[in-house]
Amino acid sequence: MDQVDDKSLTENSAPANRTSLWGGRFAGGPSEALARLSVSVQFDWRLAPYDIAGSRAHARVLAGAGLLDPEELGRILAALDDLEAACASGAFRPTVDDEDVHTALERGLLERLGSLGGKLRAGRSRNDQVATDLRLYLRDHARGVASRLVELADALVEQAERHVDTAAPGMTHLQHAQPVTFGHWLLAHVQPLLRDLERLRDWDHRTAVSPLGAGALAGSGLPLDPVAVSKELGFRTSFANSMDAVADRDFVAEFLFITAMVGVHLSRLGEEVVLWTSHEFGWVELDDAFATGSSIMPQKKNADIAELARGKSGRLVGGLVAVLTMLKGLPMTYDRDMQEDKEPAFDAVDTLELLLPALAGMISTMTVRVDRLVAAAPVGFSLATEVADWLVRKGVPFRDAHEITGKLVALCAVRDCALDEVSDEELAMVSEHLDPSVRDVLSVRSALAARTTPGSTGPGPVADQLATAADRLAGWREWAAEQVVPR
Ligand code: ARG
Repeated sequence: MDQVDDKSLTENSAPANRTSLWGGRFAGGPSEALARLSVSVQFDWRLAPYDIAGSRAHARVLAGAGLLDPEELGRILAALDDLEAACASGAFRPTVDDEDVHTALERGLLERLGSLGGKLRAGRSRNDQVATDLRLYLRDHARGVASRLVELADALVEQAERHVDTAAPGMTHLQHAQPVTFGHWLLAHVQPLLRDLERLRDWDHRTAVSPLGAGALAGSGLPLDPVAVSKELGFRTSFANSMDAVADRDFVAEFLFITAMVGVHLSRLGEEVVLWTSHEFGWVELDDAFATGSSIMPQKKNADIAELARGKSGRLVGGLVAVLTMLKGLPMTYDRDMQEDKEPAFDAVDTLELLLPALAGMISTMTVRVDRLVAAAPVGFSLATEVADWLVRKGVPFRDAHEITGKLVALCAVRDCALDEVSDEELAMVSEHLDPSVRDVLSVRSALAARTTPGSTGPGPVADQLATAADRLAGWREWAAEQVVPR
């Protein structure tokens, strides 16, 4: 069910039409200013299917407690089905007078059932309802985000498969450091995504606890069955403390940490693609379908997807900061401040659902300029460590080996030549430990081939890494496809 925008909510605002859940002790209706500030239905309407699922479970529990007879239960369940279909088709829409999603849905139920619709509110408060709805929504959408993460990781893995052997200039401080394989580099972006997936699953375990039955804060005097309700809604169990159940928004903050972390990972990948596609690097060419042009400069081809990945990390981090700041200092239990938890959470989901497919498409269709990468791999004396390691193998302490190699690099810088272009005499001049056989290690190929230990950049370990990553991603695909929330 999609969002309702503000404009569709402006009609039908005469005070007499209000569908408020709390008018009894008030002499008059709310001021226009209060109503406008208070209303959340324009953004929380997307919780409607989850609220209805919660209502079904609650109705069954009320019937189990003898508070609804079987005929009433049947009518309520039928009305909930009908209301759900009407919400999905758009036949039932919230109005601005429906303060929030819970209010709107109660109106829908009253329209269908008359006063029987009012029975469902027994033993339940919007405080436990909203906490339940948001857990259900986020558990459901965490799986959607996870599938999109897997798709991006798949795209990186597919590219990496083509470049297990492609040499590239590995960098630290954005300076040429040591040769690596480009496949290894691409897989270095897969590992963070695998950690993000693990974070989502860990988070999901903690979030699978139902608050329903906590009522406003104290639990219920009616004989409800929170554990049965929790099972029906796909949770592991129900709350241990009713006050915590309605006050806790750790699951929102934690979810936003994960999405912020994902944002940072995508931003770092985006930054690299921006660099790689620049004229100066020229390592990657984007497919036309995943690049943009300029309105004035006809020659331009820009990596806007990569830049938006970098830019959108700002709002993902911002959402986390907003929710943590909102929660800090709130007294037990529910406070209206907490209504501010939803927009950042929804925005994080929307942002990633928009961004991840674009990034996956960009990565899977990009062309890697192998010639440019291979040519750049040895540039900047990136094989100097090979000389030092060669000396170490001959028994020279690394400290001395480092010094000797440094001198050799300085000589090459003056001569404007590569390490393997130094003459036999000059090698001997730099150090008695150097001899022409050092040239055997002075190729990118041999440097890469030497890196055979697990997790290293050599083609062998990279092939192993690829197999493991592909395997793990298959497992995550299954996890993401699980239907945890009943519909
Ligand atoms: N719209 C509210 C929220 O999002 C629902 C809970 C309102 N509870 C209350 N006691 N006013 O937090």
